[in-house]
Amino acid sequence: MTGEVALSAEHVTMRYRGLLALDDVSVAFERGTTTGLIGPNGAGKTTFVNVLSGLVQPTSGRIRFDGQDKRRWSLSSAARDGVGRTFQASKVFRNRMVIDNIDVAPVRLRALEYDPLEIVDLADRRHDLAGSLSYGELRRLGVAIAISTAPRVLLLDEPGAGLTGGDLDRLSAVIRRVGATGCTIVLVDHNMRFLMGSVERVVVLEGGRLVADGTPEQVQNDPQVRAAYLGGAA
Ligand SMILES: Nc1ncnc2c1ncn2[C@@H]1O[C@H](COP(=O)(O)OP(=O)(O)OP(=O)(O)O)[C@@H](O)[C@H]1O
Ligand SMILES: [Mg+2]
Repeated sequence: MTGEVALSAEHVTMRYRGLLALDDVSVAFERGTTTGLIGPNGAGKTTFVNVLSGLVQPTSGRIRFDGQDKRRWSLSSAARDGVGRTFQASKVFRNRMVIDNIDVAPVRLRALEYDPLEIVDLADRRHDLAGSLSYGELRRLGVAIAISTAPRVLLLDEPGAGLTGGDLDRLSAVIRRVGATGCTIVLVDHNMRFLMGSVERVVVLEGGRLVADGTPEQVQNDPQVRAAYLGGAA
């Protein structure tokens, strides 16, 4: 950790007609760190990832990447700058080989210092049809596609959705391996055991507002967070 900020949101507000999806959210993600983003359904997590990845423009406020104002960002210019992401439902070409799903990566500015399929534990499935992968392997392929552009920031929106047990443990190891390459990661997930075990910091959104920010332990023990979200299940 260098203490340098890789990506930050400053007073980001996102309004959909009458609905305030994000309400004055400010948060900075330090280079090389992995941060979990949690909150109840509809809290604004995906909206925030969409803003951070340049997919949508905030109603007000701004995103800074490498210290530069990215007010007029788009998904493609953000990707060129080095921000990668996965979507809640991953897009995979099932009738192509696993390796060919990686090679369709649209932009790659920096040389890859790793094999994306190695990182996600799919090196031995390289020449198999993507359609023959298990659900857990498909989710990891989604991560491999996202890191194949050598992003400096990786935004993962529920990469563990629908996964259980060993598949979640494997995904957690994958996320730690990506983090070890120096990539700055923001991870959204509802599974607390998986999320808390994969990140060093947790920020909590509720009703579009940032309500907590700390280590997994601090956030899990925050009475307000427990009441609003964790319910005591933690
Ligand atoms: N394009 C849109 N138009 C109108 N409202 C939207 C749009 N996108 C999101 N919203 C609303 O903004 C709020 C935040 O939604 P968002 O998808 O960001 O929540 P989330 O935290 O990702 O929820 P989940 O855990 O269910 O994925 C919700 O009330 C949602 O209905
Ligand atoms: Mg969402």
